[in-house]
Amino acid sequence: MTNRLIIHQATQLVTVSGHSKQPATKEAMQNLQVIENGTVIIEDGKILDVGPHEEMKETYQDIWTDADYIDARGKTVTPGLIDPHTHLVHAGTRENEYAMRLQGKTYMDIMNAGGGIHATTRATQEASFEDLYQQSKQRMDTFLINGVTTIEAKSGYGLTVEDEIKQLEVAKKLHDEHPLDLVSTFMGAHAVPLAQKDEPEKFVDYVINEMMPEVAKNNLAVFNDVFCERGVFTPEQSRKILEAGKEYDLIPKIHADEIEPYGGAELAAEVGAISADHLLRASDEGIRQMAEENVIGVLLPGTAFFLMADYARARKMIDSGVPVALSTDANPGSSPTLSLQFIMNLGCLNMGMTPEEVLVATTINAAHAIGKADAIGSLEKGKQGDITIFDVPNYLTLSYQYGMNHVDTVIKKGVPVVKETQLHV
Ligand code: NIG
Ligand code: FE
Repeated sequence: MTNRLIIHQATQLVTVSGHSKQPATKEAMQNLQVIENGTVIIEDGKILDVGPHEEMKETYQDIWTDADYIDARGKTVTPGLIDPHTHLVHAGTRENEYAMRLQGKTYMDIMNAGGGIHATTRATQEASFEDLYQQSKQRMDTFLINGVTTIEAKSGYGLTVEDEIKQLEVAKKLHDEHPLDLVSTFMGAHAVPLAQKDEPEKFVDYVINEMMPEVAKNNLAVFNDVFCERGVFTPEQSRKILEAGKEYDLIPKIHADEIEPYGGAELAAEVGAISADHLLRASDEGIRQMAEENVIGVLLPGTAFFLMADYARARKMIDSGVPVALSTDANPGSSPTLSLQFIMNLGCLNMGMTPEEVLVATTINAAHAIGKADAIGSLEKGKQGDITIFDVPNYLTLSYQYGMNHVDTVIKKGVPVVKETQLHV
């Protein structure tokens, strides 16, 4: 029996089609391909066709009555949103550090004093597999309710072979059991553990020689990320880690130029990273090299907002030809949010992006940033039936009414998993 779902007569059906081969850049980032009074037909989890309502009804009259329906009149339908940079799997929260920052302490001061990433690492090491799973699952639910159907998630709060594997195993189990899809990144080089503070090179070798082979052997990650920042990992150490990862088919990503300009964007271009993320302080030359090498800039304006820092130069990057994606950076220290919609608001209001660009950046370009643009990120024939229906009459309203959840329905692989804003899994 064929399972069919017809989402019909969307006031706006935003397909974001035509960018599956290459991420959208420059003017192409304005190109959403919106169908007014649009209809999409999903068959056995995949998109059968998308188009104007009357045309779909005419072409598919033979199968029209044999389907479930969702009336999308008055609503805006988009590809399921994609979050290409999260630290989903972790234990605990750090509101105490937030209070300290409000008193003037900096993010790096707190980390260097043994808090920050180290605090979450301690909590994550101490948490049982089940506890870590439950805490992370709740966050997955929230992502889904907020319209996100695929996320990337990093390790990096384990910092020992055993604990990094525990985090990645939790991520794998969540991917297998939760309707939301999860793509894993190994980030053993998230911080040098306090006990090895004076021997960072030794820890770099440990990441490469002990952690990486275990991660690769168990097929637990697709990407390899490193926090390249003064006082964390130098560009030289980062290069070594990213090049070593390639030997295990781990695709490089990088936390680059978040706090200081440090050559991270340049390094991303040099090693052929799929993306360079953060880039708050990326140099002109780094931006130029990223554009030349087609490295995706994954911008995380929630982090600038929450750390009260200057925002990444999204306008300059897009105008220079860098393909830009947006993400929450969901983590307990620098961006404790699970709302990609709020990130879209920030993209427009604080980084000068257009409402069209932020939608491209959270759909097809985000799909490219996690290597999945052949399957998700746009509403096109043959792609996965991952769809978000917003209770707004046009996509402009999404980046206009801010700080709220506009989601009505979420469809994952053709199955409604959020209905009338409530989880149905
Ligand atoms: O992307 N910068 C490094 N890692 C995270 C923050 C992690 C944390 O503070 O727990 C980030 O900002
Ligand atoms: Fe991050």
